[in-house]
Amino acid sequence: MRVTFTANGRPVEADDVWEGESLLYVLRERVGLPGSKNACEQGECGSCTVYLDGVPVCACLVAAGQVQDREVRTVEGLGGADGGLGPVQRAFVDAGAVQCGFCTPGLLVQTDALLAQDPRPSDADIREALSGNLCRCTGYGKIMDAVRLASARLCADEAVDG
Ligand code: FES
Ligand code: FES
Repeated sequence: MRVTFTANGRPVEADDVWEGESLLYVLRERVGLPGSKNACEQGECGSCTVYLDGVPVCACLVAAGQVQDREVRTVEGLGGADGGLGPVQRAFVDAGAVQCGFCTPGLLVQTDALLAQDPRPSDADIREALSGNLCRCTGYGKIMDAVRLASARLCADEAVDG
């Protein structure tokens, strides 16, 4: 079957999609968006997290047919307007929260969603929001630092912008 949807603001079309195929497979293998990672394919690790109509979901658990005519935003869509890193991506780099990087795309999307909803989350809020995203490398300390840093910078920008 053919599936058409919007990915990071642009219309995309995937042909020859079979009925059991996941959104994650379509993104990575059919429409040239390999940023979302495939680690468990069972909804356990969060590395494949993308926005679907503005809500973070595990792309490995979404059937491709379910996204027909809907909007998907992936880690590739979180960049800055100038084509460089977006604020959450920059904070993860600056805080040293990226090691192997497998968990990073999902954490970036989930953090983006958290800060959009609550620009000043408590540590408990951050832990709760990221509880579905597993990282085998960092011990989570630097990830917490990255989210705090992104939050502080976004709030500072807001203060400057008035
Ligand atoms: S690959 Fe989707 S949750 Fe792990
Ligand atoms: S940086 Fe390797 S799994 Fe998180």
